[in-house]
Amino acid sequence: MRQHLCILSVALSLGLWARQSPSEAPRSAPDAPTQPQSRALPLLQQAEDLDPAPDRVLVRLEAAPSASGPWLYAYNGLNPGPLIRARKGDTLTVEFTNRLGAASTIHWHGLKVPFAMDGVAWRGAPVGDGESFTYTFTLNQAGTFWYHPHFNTENQVDGGLYGALVVEDEADPRPDQELVLLFDTEQEYDAQQDALPDGDPGRHGHGHARLGPRWRVNGQSAPLIHSASGGQVTRVRLINASNSAYLSLRWPGLRQIGSDQGLLAALATPESIVLGPGDRAEAEWLLGGEGFSVVTEPWSLNGGPALGDPVELVQVQLQEPAPAPQGLAWPFSGEAPGLDPGYADILYQFQGSDRTGVWLINGERFPNVTVEEVPFDAEVVLEVRNLSPTEHPFHLHGLAFEVLSINGAPPPRYMLEDTLNLRIRDRVRLRVRADNPGDWMTHCHILPHADDGMMTVLRVLEP
Ligand code: C2O
Ligand code: CU
Repeated sequence: MRQHLCILSVALSLGLWARQSPSEAPRSAPDAPTQPQSRALPLLQQAEDLDPAPDRVLVRLEAAPSASGPWLYAYNGLNPGPLIRARKGDTLTVEFTNRLGAASTIHWHGLKVPFAMDGVAWRGAPVGDGESFTYTFTLNQAGTFWYHPHFNTENQVDGGLYGALVVEDEADPRPDQELVLLFDTEQEYDAQQDALPDGDPGRHGHGHARLGPRWRVNGQSAPLIHSASGGQVTRVRLINASNSAYLSLRWPGLRQIGSDQGLLAALATPESIVLGPGDRAEAEWLLGGEGFSVVTEPWSLNGGPALGDPVELVQVQLQEPAPAPQGLAWPFSGEAPGLDPGYADILYQFQGSDRTGVWLINGERFPNVTVEEVPFDAEVVLEVRNLSPTEHPFHLHGLAFEVLSINGAPPPRYMLEDTLNLRIRDRVRLRVRADNPGDWMTHCHILPHADDGMMTVLRVLEP
């Protein structure tokens, strides 16, 4: 039975490639060299599209307690949940059924959806146990997104409820292979509960920092082996779905092509890619020579680069030696960063500390917050200041923001984001076009911080 499931999932992922690139022979699935400590990197299982219309994608997601394994919950019995794949311009419909035994929602992280589809329990009820809700919206952005509950979020995301959502742009060149890597840390919630004598799930954020996170990639404990063919180009989509752990990813010849909101304005070749919780990036692997390892360097939310050895996450092994291919002609926009106008319309100050366990924005604790209102389609400058001794990934729902300055200096390149890490004492200015009416949650994506109150609301008025 287990084997059948494996064959089925491989067939599903190969089917995807056959459908999208009929001229390319599908690559064989990674076959695991039998080494005791390293297993094959699992590919994410793709959700079946139940609507035959070419511009509509219909998916069913059922959330329920997990039948096995370390997870508390699963979507469609899978950890991570199924990969949803669609094209820019498609209408995505997700029929959600909640069988968790507790209320839940689904939030579409990074997507500009109508407010009623945003999956938050502000000005509306969550989806009760045994109930269903149909989410439907048009996908107007291309990029690497993800979905997760936005109710009792820390518990439910850590318990295993999350999945990747990829929106393709038909203008992009076709790589030989595409890989989605969803990173998570092992059982933060459980480990913390175990670590506390009284099992009080209300205190988080202290337990795992000492141990150092143990990473999973696509649900499997790292390190993992990915077998590929030399001479090929792989588009790699990276998502940090951890509740509170940071990645600082590095490999030789790193080429970053995208971030939260699709392709970058130009190719970037940073030393490493730092992804806070909720953050995404896209990279291009030009496979040649010996193969290489993807590692994460220790990064502490109490101050960034930390002592310790890099941890190997994925070892890329090349089956046939071949010279590395050229990079693809990604349609980068070439856009320059916008100018900081020297003022801000709205100021958010992030405050709090591990010592007090109280996390605030502008001295307020969600849901007792001041709702800032902006007119529809206005251009608004936000200033976000981190006044706490901890880093925070700032996240805004329903809109995207352009980074205008970081600590008074222009950003290294044009940056359009929905999640941006604020290091200790950082002060950033962000430009938002208020083109989507609704009450948009604005919060730290370290889920224990958000659940403890580090969340507010930016209201875009109806036109
Ligand atoms: Cu990833 Cu408020 O969400
Ligand atoms: Cu935070």
